[in-house]
Amino acid sequence: MYDQAESLRRMMDAPNAEAKVIAVVSGKGGVGKSNISLNFAISLAKKGQRVAIIDLDIGMANVDILMGLSPRYHIMNLLDSELSIWDIIEQGPEGIAYIGGGSGFSKFVELDDRKMERFFSQFEIIGQHFDYIILDMGAGATKDSIQFILAADDVLVVTTPEPPAMTDAYAMVKYIYLNEGKMPLHIVVNRADSDKEGKRTLASFQRVASQFLQKELNPLGYIPADPIVQKAVKAQVPFVLYKKDAKASLAMDKLTALYLGETTKKAAGFSQLISRVKHLFKEKQG
Ligand SMILES: Nc1ncnc2c1ncn2[C@@H]1O[C@H](COP(=O)(O)OP(=O)(O)OP(=O)(O)O)[C@@H](O)[C@H]1O
Ligand SMILES: [Mg+2]
Repeated sequence: MYDQAESLRRMMDAPNAEAKVIAVVSGKGGVGKSNISLNFAISLAKKGQRVAIIDLDIGMANVDILMGLSPRYHIMNLLDSELSIWDIIEQGPEGIAYIGGGSGFSKFVELDDRKMERFFSQFEIIGQHFDYIILDMGAGATKDSIQFILAADDVLVVTTPEPPAMTDAYAMVKYIYLNEGKMPLHIVVNRADSDKEGKRTLASFQRVASQFLQKELNPLGYIPADPIVQKAVKAQVPFVLYKKDAKASLAMDKLTALYLGETTKKAAGFSQLISRVKHLFKEKQG
């Protein structure tokens, strides 16, 4: 097991970060968002970043399973107990923090102001202790989840090279673009059968967005279809740790290095996310 207590202590000691929030989204389900969220997080952590993953695939959260954790709590436990955010955080490999989303975000509408403030003041703490917060979203978007996506600093859109996945990913890109024109959108192609297919898919996706939306996307990279990924999922070990020199792992490391090299660390950060989500729930209450 990972040394939960020790690394949590280290995290709590340093409230000096301004987290950049990255939402990992897709149009179609099952294209690899959760695996990419987790392995990207670990890859970032290996490069010295402090990273937290929040599992926002409400009701179908499974990033914990991918790394063999069984969390005692999830974020909704902040509502009905005196737990602090540090009780909710689970420790994953390479020091990454994991926060389960749990079901029942709809409970928010019934909250009184005091409880809601308590929730957000605890939630806010996360932003000061991590460099990156990765949101693993469900496929597509709901009225609630889109608020999290639109409040992120960066969005990673995951697609496979298959036309139905591409079409749905494009619809997602379009929706985000129409609501938040300046959002940096990075495309990640997963399960490419060859380098050629990976590159071609990235290029054609980028071309379509540029032609029909006049939006420049960043073709961040591709991860090959690699049987190691399935093996790692079964072993409940993130693939970048399961076999460090597997094709998929090397591709993930390259993608992470590119991401760190290309993007600036300027973040509106977690506070933007919180104010947006607060607003959303206040709106629902009113
Ligand atoms: N690069 C890859 N090579 C081979 N298999 C892969 C790859 N990426 C993902 N898979 C397979 O696809 C499955 C689904 O991946 P994952 O759970 O990450 O998708 P998801 O987009 O999060 O799904 P959902 O929409 O249900 O949340 C994995 O369990 C794995 O078996
Ligand atoms: Mg998933």
